[in-house]
Amino acid sequence: MGNYSLFMSLPSFSSDISTLGIAGSGIMAAGIAEVALLAGFDVMVRSRSERGATELVAQVSKSLGRRVERGKLEIQVRDEAARRLTTTTNLGDLARCSIVIESVVEDKEQKTSLLRELDSVVPTGSIIATNTSTLSVSELALATMQPDRVCGIHFFNPATTMPLVEVIRPLTASQSTIDVAIAFVAMCGKEAVLVRDDPGFIVNALLFPYLNDAIKMMERGTASMDDIDAAMKGGCNFPMGPFALLDLVGLDTSLSIIETLYAASGNTADCPAESLVRLVADGHLGRKTGRGFRTY
Ligand SMILES: NC(=O)c1ccc[n+]([C@@H]2O[C@H](COP(=O)([O-])OP(=O)(O)OC[C@H]3O[C@@H](n4cnc5c(N)ncnc54)[C@H](O)[C@@H]3O)[C@@H](O)[C@H]2O)c1
Repeated sequence: MGNYSLFMSLPSFSSDISTLGIAGSGIMAAGIAEVALLAGFDVMVRSRSERGATELVAQVSKSLGRRVERGKLEIQVRDEAARRLTTTTNLGDLARCSIVIESVVEDKEQKTSLLRELDSVVPTGSIIATNTSTLSVSELALATMQPDRVCGIHFFNPATTMPLVEVIRPLTASQSTIDVAIAFVAMCGKEAVLVRDDPGFIVNALLFPYLNDAIKMMERGTASMDDIDAAMKGGCNFPMGPFALLDLVGLDTSLSIIETLYAASGNTADCPAESLVRLVADGHLGRKTGRGFRTY
């Protein structure tokens, strides 16, 4: 670990700072695991199933392999990083982690019960973070017995390439929790921005109303999906159009974010677009299921 002293200087923080725990094994869990491995952390991923764990390891090793192929990573470094990744199906194994990030499905009940469980196994002195996209971090924190050690560490997709991480400060978090989160983000080579615990934080509060409006624009017949994507790429210099981005994020996650923003604003103009609701109900969740607004 490169920046060991950074952590050691923070009050009431565990002396074992080398292991990051991740709960979840989806797109974001795999990305965060890879980022942390390359930053020198040991990473322990807890998946509910052996299959989820195997798929995560395969995803990380494929991505590390691509770096080697592109000449961006030496084989020895890849092998050494891969050796620092371990998986478990037992939540109790996260007990030796000094930071645990939960990155499971964007669902308040699931996250609340997971955080409660994590609070009982992760030792005092370690921090617990959520990678939630929009849920209230304060409400999640208050589900635990030690809300002062809970904050948001919100990576972006793909975590391996996106430079930004939002650190969300709920009213309940202690300053040392926030300091550790910011230090961790810096150690991962990312840029941290500190945000109050408002719905959607910075990025999603601004981004998802636009994505939702793009779907409604297509539904009204203003333009086709392809032309809306082309317009926002060519006219705004965005790297991808709204439909490509929705499929990348995942339509279930996107719907959940839009529903949370809608519940917070109460403004009917913010209600989720019909075709988004329908695609999710039909199980078409974007790239991760092979079909969303487009087929992959
Ligand atoms: N996809 C994105 O672009 C993006 C970006 C930033 C943050 N996020 C957030 O990251 C989190 C995960 O999103 P994702 O895109 O990786 O989703 P995903 O669908 O790829 O993965 C979700 C994971 O959660 C697991 N899971 C579901 N219920 C669970 C439970 N009760 N206990 C433990 N595991 C459970 C699933 O097995 C799966 O591994 C969400 O909170 C999401 O809002 C997503």
